[in-house]
Amino acid sequence: MVKRKTCIFISGRGTNLKNIISRSRDKSFPIQISLVISNNKNAQGINYAKKFKIPFKIIDTSLQTHENKILLNLRKYKITFICLAGYMKIISNKIINNFQKRIINIHPSLLPKFKGLNTFQRVLKSREKETGCTVHYVNNKLDDGHIIIKKKFYVSLKDNVDNLKYQTQKLEHKAYPEAIINIFRYC
Ligand code: GRF
Repeated sequence: MVKRKTCIFISGRGTNLKNIISRSRDKSFPIQISLVISNNKNAQGINYAKKFKIPFKIIDTSLQTHENKILLNLRKYKITFICLAGYMKIISNKIINNFQKRIINIHPSLLPKFKGLNTFQRVLKSREKETGCTVHYVNNKLDDGHIIIKKKFYVSLKDNVDNLKYQTQKLEHKAYPEAIINIFRYC
């Protein structure tokens, strides 16, 4: 099986990055992680790229040239698939158009509910009975593209932001690899 050369975009802790790297070592997993891009030079997730000897680039998105830099690196590493994993920047139309149906994202809510930031606070405030995570294709609207997979759990009265986050991330680490397997199942 030829694995798709994949770039993972991160901004922070990188637990999804770590999880996908470890799953991608499995022979039958459809992607290999060929590049990591971060907009944040202090992102903890960069340490996983270092540990697993995966090339990484820090690209400062406040520079006008950042979009071209990203595209140049994606070409240089022959990237054909992109996973956003806690990347806190909007992906520009130029990049989306170059990677139609080949960019996916994970979001910590049951989309279309609670797009954007502070999802756990909002889940608690609106007294949701259940919450979870969603993996979806990326289009030019925030947290909006076609949904690939959702996973959910029940919210209890005792839950707070920290344990909702903990439970959601545990599900994310199942949902993201499953979504990737689903996408390439028939290829
Ligand atoms: C995840 O909760 C994901 O849903 C959101 O950002 C978080 C990233 O976590 N988009 P990590 O950096 O992978 O630990």
